[in-house]
Amino acid sequence: MTDMPEIVSNLIQASKKHEQYRSEECINMIASEGIKSPAVSQMLDMSHDLATRYAEGENDMAGHVKKRYYQGQKYMSQIEDLACDAVKNLFRTSWADVRLISGTHANTATFKGLSLASKNNKMVVTPLSCGAHISHDYTGLAGSILGIDNINHVYDLDEFNIDPDKSAYVIRAAKPGIVTFGGSLFLFPHPVKELKAVCDEVGAYVAYDAAHVLGLIAGGQFQDPLREGADFITASTHKTFPGPQGGVIMGSPDTPAKEKAVKKIQHAVFPLTASSTHLGRLPALGIACLEMKIFGQQLATQIVKNAQTAGQYLCENGVKVVAEKKGFTRSHQIALDVRGFGGGNRVAQDLEDASIILNKNLLPYDDQADKGNPSGLRVGFQDVTRRGLMEGDVKHLCDLMLDVIKEKRKPVQVKADVLAFKKEFCGVKYGFQSVEEALKYVK
Ligand SMILES: Cc1ncc(COP(=O)(O)O)c(C=O)c1O
Repeated sequence: MTDMPEIVSNLIQASKKHEQYRSEECINMIASEGIKSPAVSQMLDMSHDLATRYAEGENDMAGHVKKRYYQGQKYMSQIEDLACDAVKNLFRTSWADVRLISGTHANTATFKGLSLASKNNKMVVTPLSCGAHISHDYTGLAGSILGIDNINHVYDLDEFNIDPDKSAYVIRAAKPGIVTFGGSLFLFPHPVKELKAVCDEVGAYVAYDAAHVLGLIAGGQFQDPLREGADFITASTHKTFPGPQGGVIMGSPDTPAKEKAVKKIQHAVFPLTASSTHLGRLPALGIACLEMKIFGQQLATQIVKNAQTAGQYLCENGVKVVAEKKGFTRSHQIALDVRGFGGGNRVAQDLEDASIILNKNLLPYDDQADKGNPSGLRVGFQDVTRRGLMEGDVKHLCDLMLDVIKEKRKPVQVKADVLAFKKEFCGVKYGFQSVEEALKYVK
């Protein structure tokens, strides 16, 4: 057995190497990852004591602290209330819960709460093969942990979206307690407003998983689900939304049914699924909210522009980019079909060897059992945009990717160019460089 000092020494080495590798020696294009500003990182560093504390208890209908069971809470309660207010302000809601430690946790509490409130454990969701997150599915959290029965929306492969007319039939026939939108492979806004009336007709709550697109919503560059009819949004706070790792749920309980739902969701947060709520992230979450209030529109606009530019450019250069007739994407991600170049596995691995990091992805028309070598690659542009890449830079990056995809050069040769290119984009834009700088904005 390896002895403890050696284990820990290796652990420290690996951590140091990781920090350098992924932040300095790679171009990061995984669509579910985010990048924090120096101010958000600094605020996390300033919140170490908070990261060791507990705040179990109940919240009120504004999402504020109502009752806590331990002593020592006087600033902690204030911090939680203020982080909650920052989220509510940014997304214009009257209620939010910031105690969730991840997007999956937000879905756990929301799906559980809404199925309790509706006394109905059926949920209509996007098929897993068409971009839903595993937490929505009967094989994952929803079915295997919460015991929710899934019924799939009808998905239109031509539109790369939920078919609103056919899904309306499904919702009417299934009479679910919850209808869920949003997903992980998420190129186009889902038909929330088109299906809201049908959801109301059958008494279903509308939940929208904004884990991927929260930053785009904050910047006004994607659909605004709450204004289109979603009762609740769940999300991660660390993908296109550039905050610390965490989760959030929000909505405006302006009807008795929604008020009942909030109470059930809060119960599903505590005591059902949370004890430590990882409070150390909350001040940093507030700073990220301010950044998105100030820079969000500019950032989100450029992210979408960069994704669309890459879609067009790769397509013009012989790579199949899905949803060509729809303009490739309206979000931060595009999906490539690289079956003709050896498949997602070969291409993703070679790109990694060239220091470009993204993930292989099953496409809706793939054999869903062939997870080892799917046709697709999912490519996200939120990180490179925050690093400062504009459309011309994105085309240059695509040229480097094309060299690898088409095997024009060996990955190790491309890597030298990737590293040189990366050196031009070491900073983080559309955010504060320090907490001090954030404070100047609020004075
Ligand atoms: C749509 C969607 N919801 C939820 C999650 C889970 O979020 P987290 O990793 O914060 O638990 C993901 C993860 O990528 C996702 O894509």
